[in-house]
Amino acid sequence: MERITTPEIQPFETAHTAKVRELAPECMVLLKNDGTLPLKKTGKIALFGGGARRTIKGGTGSGDVNVRHYINVEEGLENAGFEVVTKDWLDAYDAAVEKEADKYFKELRKQADAVGVNPVLFAMGKTAPVPEYDFPLDADADTAVYVLARISGEGSDRLTGEGDISLTKEEVRDILALNEKYEHFVLVLNTGGMVDLSPVESVPAILLMGQLGTPTGDVLADVLTGKSYPSGKLTMTWAPLDAYPSTEGFGGVDDTVYREGIYVGYRHFDTVKKDVIYPFGYGIGYTTFEVADPAIEASAGTVTVTATVKNTGDFKGKEIVQVYVSAPEGKLDKPYQVLAAYAKTAELLPGESAKVQACFALKDLASFDEEQDAWILEAGTYTVRVGNCSRDTVVAGTFTQDETIITEKAYKASADTAEIRAQKPGSFTWDDVKSGKCTVSDFADTLTDEQLIYLCIGAYKDADDVMEIIGNAATTVAGAAGETTGRLKDAGVPALVMADGPAGIRISKDYTLVDGEAKGGLSLGGDVMKVFTEEELQATIAAATAGGNAEAQKYYQYCVAIPIGTAIAQSWNDSLAESLGDLVGKEMDTFGIQIWLAPALNIHRSPLCGRNFEYYSEDPLISGKMAAAITKGVQKYPGHATTIKHFACNNQETNRYFSNSIVSTRAMREIYLKGFEICVKESQPHFIMTSYNLINGVHSCNRKDLITDILRNEWSFKGVVMTDWLVTGGMTINEGEKWPAASAAGNVKAGNDITMPGIPADKADIEDALANPEHPYALTRNDLLACAERVLEKILQLG
Ligand code: BGC
Repeated sequence: MERITTPEIQPFETAHTAKVRELAPECMVLLKNDGTLPLKKTGKIALFGGGARRTIKGGTGSGDVNVRHYINVEEGLENAGFEVVTKDWLDAYDAAVEKEADKYFKELRKQADAVGVNPVLFAMGKTAPVPEYDFPLDADADTAVYVLARISGEGSDRLTGEGDISLTKEEVRDILALNEKYEHFVLVLNTGGMVDLSPVESVPAILLMGQLGTPTGDVLADVLTGKSYPSGKLTMTWAPLDAYPSTEGFGGVDDTVYREGIYVGYRHFDTVKKDVIYPFGYGIGYTTFEVADPAIEASAGTVTVTATVKNTGDFKGKEIVQVYVSAPEGKLDKPYQVLAAYAKTAELLPGESAKVQACFALKDLASFDEEQDAWILEAGTYTVRVGNCSRDTVVAGTFTQDETIITEKAYKASADTAEIRAQKPGSFTWDDVKSGKCTVSDFADTLTDEQLIYLCIGAYKDADDVMEIIGNAATTVAGAAGETTGRLKDAGVPALVMADGPAGIRISKDYTLVDGEAKGGLSLGGDVMKVFTEEELQATIAAATAGGNAEAQKYYQYCVAIPIGTAIAQSWNDSLAESLGDLVGKEMDTFGIQIWLAPALNIHRSPLCGRNFEYYSEDPLISGKMAAAITKGVQKYPGHATTIKHFACNNQETNRYFSNSIVSTRAMREIYLKGFEICVKESQPHFIMTSYNLINGVHSCNRKDLITDILRNEWSFKGVVMTDWLVTGGMTINEGEKWPAASAAGNVKAGNDITMPGIPADKADIEDALANPEHPYALTRNDLLACAERVLEKILQLG
């Protein structure tokens, strides 16, 4: 860890920003092009839209990254030599947005006060409406770009009305007018997910830029000018909102029934043969490709698919070959097809060809049979298709499975047995553990119950102040989200620091040291802070920096923001994801962070989920592969770890602490757990974070079947499980919740090692469970030891 004592730009910032700029074009999806793109020249450009100057680099909430500066579209275009001739429009729009946001957040504050809820919690993830406006569109240029922006974040879901999924009247009016008026017109989407483009279908050039972190505007300029080119494809189907089976009943306050079962996204649309706006896997480039000679070869349980890809256009590009399999209907119904593998070509010049190969294991085609509690591969003919989106494929071959076989049985937990633990005599220190003189268990045996409890409740502050613990529960690194316990420091056991992601690292921009503790400004920022009055804001910052003095040495920690999860996945390029993980791993090393609270891989069950931008896809294969690649990138730095989250079925933000996802076992296995399974098996992340929600009536963090039976025993996860922040209480927004908060003792019982960030009620609950056999999750010291030892093992490995 380095303490950076100057506010000057650091070499790593420059290098990492350049790296993101080089990689991010692959994350963009070109949806339509009539030859307008790439633009033929720079010069005057008429720039409009909410994302032109107020470009969104990533979403809000814990996934936000405190960068020194990021490049918005206006700046990016100017850097590339364009003259933006619509400054008046941009100024006027700015003023309209500010006015609207002030009004909106003041109103939210009133509502929060009326129900007596912490205003920041109340406003989390909520975004001010797009303002009404009517500014002249005249400008002296023959090219116009309209940047449509949408922001979202944890705490709230997206809205079905105008201004979120749907365009506002003003947006539609301006986009259509610009399309008529200018010789060349491009609609750029600065969104984290789907928007309904049906009213502006006539626009011939539409580019999904997404939200690409620090260099966003420069990346766009590179792509618009043809210095680079887009080569991403959608990882979610774009369809009218009411066509998704998940829309009905989405965001239930108490319960959300996953009625569609395994038929999520293209698994539904392709099966029912419904037209969509843009299919799963869709995206064009500046050139065209032909996929020829598809062939398959099945041997030793693996199917290898090959094809030749030729660049048939006159621009360079990269193509993504997707392999889908249609499995036979047997005992279980099957979707029309499922993505089984994918491969992306290297850059192909016009006329150039390359052979691509993609493999999958036969057992990965198995379906989960609830009756037998097992994965089964059913007898019949399997058809392998190859193509460049789910709706454009050709048959590459078929193979036959002669008889139905069980490929794997679910783990059956045996009844709890009270083991007797042999205790080695003597007293041991942490140094003895480090030098190999004793084991972690020997050391753990010497700890008191209270010390063991501390190991299982994170940073633990005596305070119950929710704001303090959400923003910065760590004391070692300012603005980090949490730590493992610091209460054993006297015994030599260090604390591991946890900082959020996934679009980079979220910590404070600067800090001072007060009695050895890092004290920095708030790491949670953005519009949500507008719910505070100026005095409250200053008081909150003063509390976070308490004890600091203006003369003290200041330290700086500016991080680089990488593309949002969905954008990374749209590259369909595992090695790109690994490079971004590598970049994060280096910054973790610089700032002394051992545990990254990312990547996040919940399934895009509905376009309405407010956190989809942090996640990868509606498909579990891509989700798992991306999370594994990023984990490999981070964990190749010894002492640094990822935390894959939110395990599991966290597919909405509405009432996220208390909402119950009602899901069939088959859908759990094939859709919602599958990505986690792939990631665990391929990359062994050191940590996993359980979700806030309940699954079929029990908080996921309290589910032993999920954590111990499936994750540890079936998938051989070797790491530590932690909860999401404050799942055990303190976050009530609605009066009279149907479901209770989770239990810290229940976490220990389930094998969920650390309740984060650790509040007094958690400690009391575990103490009670140890003392009181009537406690619903009555605990023995052995239960506690099992969790505490796993935490100690990780501290030994990473600390
Ligand atoms: C989010 C997590 C995050 C945690 C710590 C929670 O509100 O759901 O994704 O890692 O806070 O900041």
